[in-house]
Amino acid sequence: MNPRKNKLSLMLLLLMVAVLVSAGGCDCKTVQFIFGDSLSDVGNNDKLSKSLAKANLPWYGIDFGNGMPNGRFCNGRTVSDIIGDKMGLPRPPAFLDPALDEDTILEKGVNFASGGGGILNETGGYFIQRFSLWKQIELFRGTQELIRQKIGANESEKFFQGAKYVVALGSNDFINNYLVPVYSDSWKYNDQGFIEYLMTTLGQQLKVLHKLGARELMVFGLGPMGCIPLQRVMSQSGECLEKTNKLALGFNVAGKQLLSELSSGLPNASFKFADAYDVVNDVITNPSNYGFENSDSPCCSFGNIRPALTCVPASTLCKDRSKYVFWDEYHPSDAANEIIAKELIRKFGFKNVNETETEPPTQAPAVAPSPDN
Ligand SMILES: *[C@@H]1O[C@H](CO)[C@@H](O)[C@H](O)[C@H]1NC(C)=O
Ligand SMILES: *[C@@H]1O[C@H](CO)[C@@H](O)[C@H](O)[C@H]1NC(C)=O
Ligand SMILES: *[C@@H]1O[C@H](CO)[C@@H](O)[C@H](O)[C@H]1NC(C)=O
Ligand SMILES: *[C@@H]1O[C@H](CO)[C@@H](O)[C@H](O)[C@H]1NC(C)=O
Repeated sequence: MNPRKNKLSLMLLLLMVAVLVSAGGCDCKTVQFIFGDSLSDVGNNDKLSKSLAKANLPWYGIDFGNGMPNGRFCNGRTVSDIIGDKMGLPRPPAFLDPALDEDTILEKGVNFASGGGGILNETGGYFIQRFSLWKQIELFRGTQELIRQKIGANESEKFFQGAKYVVALGSNDFINNYLVPVYSDSWKYNDQGFIEYLMTTLGQQLKVLHKLGARELMVFGLGPMGCIPLQRVMSQSGECLEKTNKLALGFNVAGKQLLSELSSGLPNASFKFADAYDVVNDVITNPSNYGFENSDSPCCSFGNIRPALTCVPASTLCKDRSKYVFWDEYHPSDAANEIIAKELIRKFGFKNVNETETEPPTQAPAVAPSPDN
């Protein structure tokens, strides 16, 4: 054998491998980019100095990690935490996490969710500082620019097209905007008009995300938000506010329609609407079927000064946190989030990314609940 020839063929082989790698894709990890409100926030608002919506004091986080507040508006995990864990995906850090750098983004993705944020820019104004969905998308653009500089345009495109996207907002657009008479949206629109306004805006936002590379994307629907403790105290009897629940149902019907149009209209898009309304409603109506003892008041509350003060250090906690559907006035407990996440996992057939495929079962998902309150 001619050693020179050997060397040549080795070089050829290496060259071929190099070509294959650059053509076949990127060695990037599958990560998640999460856009949302307080149901998905993992610490952004804690870093917004002027925000009035923060989960930075006990007893937030009491059932998570070391038990210290971590920015989640919950005693434990969010729905996105639980679904991501099940899929074997790393938990994306908060955009404002001081440790966030390009390597971390490539390993874990980013969570842009911000308590008080909405689909609409004007939502949640009285929290002073929060990231609206438009703002979160703007921050995502900046993130893409950083990654492009780090790994180049082609690899970057593959990385962002291979990622998974979660968009979970909408409840604040009702609870902290439309339903509050100080906001002009409450008198400019009627129910259907407001839902259409939200859908038009959300449709534009999702198209921008698609343009930026999102291909596999899930929008969470709304839960029975008229049943959150904060809404119940507004009725004489402590019952759920049916008017508010009707808005959530209207949002879900329109959202499902929007997502199915986008999914079939945008190239290579697999956009889904994840609705868990029915399960959450059933949990609230029949708590004992699911092992809960209370589905109408917060586990963490400050005596009778409800709902002005929610969970604060001086609050008292319920005896068994796993028996309460609601953690505070707005947010479900870790135990309730687990039921919501399991329902969505069941409906969409999410699998661990290490298993071969993550395609959902073929039957269309039924109308279900959703994790936003
Ligand atoms: C998936 O596979 C990767 C690489 O083999 C491994 O590092 C990771 O821990 C696996 N994840 C799960 C949830 O099994
Ligand atoms: C919403 O806010 C973004 C900045 O976050 C801005 O670019 C956009 O023009 C605003 N949209 C509307 C409709 O006000
Ligand atoms: C990026 O991809 C384009 C088209 O696929 C190709 O022409 C170009 O050479 C690639 N650039 C780099 C830096 O690999
Ligand atoms: C859609 O997927 C095909 C096959 O992977 C690819 O060639 C095409 O560029 C994609 N189009 C868009 C807009 O992503």
